[in-house]
Amino acid sequence: MADIGQEEDFEAARQKALKIGATKYVLVDVRREFVEQQCFPAVQTNAIYENVYLLGTSLARPVIAKAQISVAEQEGCFAVSHGCTGKGNDQVRFELAFYALKPDVKVIAPWRLPEFFNRFEGRSALLAYAEEKGIPVTQTKAKPWSTDENLAHISFEAGILEDPDTTPPKDMWKLTVDPTDAPQTPEDFTVQFEKGLPVKLTYTKDGQTVSVTDPVELFLTANAIARRNGVGRIDIVENRFIGIKSRGCYETPGLTLLRTAHIDLEGLVMDREVRALRDQFVTPAYSRILYNGMYYSPEGEYVTSMIAPSQISVNGQVRVRAYKGNTIILGRSSETEKLYDATESSMDEIGDFQPTDTTGFIAVQAIRLKKYGETKLGK
Ligand code: ARG
Ligand code: SIN
Repeated sequence: MADIGQEEDFEAARQKALKIGATKYVLVDVRREFVEQQCFPAVQTNAIYENVYLLGTSLARPVIAKAQISVAEQEGCFAVSHGCTGKGNDQVRFELAFYALKPDVKVIAPWRLPEFFNRFEGRSALLAYAEEKGIPVTQTKAKPWSTDENLAHISFEAGILEDPDTTPPKDMWKLTVDPTDAPQTPEDFTVQFEKGLPVKLTYTKDGQTVSVTDPVELFLTANAIARRNGVGRIDIVENRFIGIKSRGCYETPGLTLLRTAHIDLEGLVMDREVRALRDQFVTPAYSRILYNGMYYSPEGEYVTSMIAPSQISVNGQVRVRAYKGNTIILGRSSETEKLYDATESSMDEIGDFQPTDTTGFIAVQAIRLKKYGETKLGK
């Protein structure tokens, strides 16, 4: 079992495993690796799938799979298994990672074995079986969600959510308060970045200014701020890798805050063309690679190597406000990066070039557009 930051009773899980037939239970704490190797690069790349999904589940799979394979090696296992259905992304992500990390491994995917799917039609049949055999599960008929939780996010799928026009019940959400119930007073904090990595988060705790710098602590603090202010909920219909559309509701509290702050700082400190290339190629490629479970692949390695060079100038701090589900930027600054020149940008001063220079710039840009206009007008 991986501790990837899910709020879970691991002792209960251990007892359950041993009770239902496991001969040994191994728990691996992968929280730090998850934050440093997955969540922070996701912040650096502003990773996102289909404009809204911050990839919370996709980010966790490579870390869990790697830990699972290393336990398999330690224990001398020839096979590994997982509980994903045969319709989703996770089966693909886990198995591709297993094969990349241990090419000779055998994968046992119960949901796809005939003796399993001929007996259990789906989640409801499994719930009935668990009840009959006294196997404790958190899902109920009323709340049958298929959920996946980690330090960055929780997902909800299945049950009544399968009708994309059904609004989820208020009590489904777990990691954030309902934005309408969030405090009336906004909460302000500052995130400092070095090379695009969040290195310090400063906020107010019981009237005192507190700073956190440890990556895991920093991430958990961002989570806590987002959580109490209702930040990070989405409700979407997405395209799964295998070609099925699926409806999901996700909560991604801290990552939403940190990503928004990071994007803002890039505006101040990043070169325009580097940013445009990164936005056009690195962000979508990295996001798609993660979503499709291709993290351990030649293209995964290649795109990952492109993150650091894009972030050299991303140094500075952003002042952020969390308020009733919103992330509001209050200001940003950088001691080292001087691309933003207040004199140059000012509408009150002339600056380094003459107003007539831009007349020439526009005249040259217009050569092509005048031709286009003439053709349109049939001249
Ligand atoms: N649809 C999301 C994704 O593909 C969430 C998947 C959740 N997985 C789960 N086993 N419940 O990333
Ligand atoms: C599953 O199929 O087990 C969960 C959903 C997914 O993997 O996309």
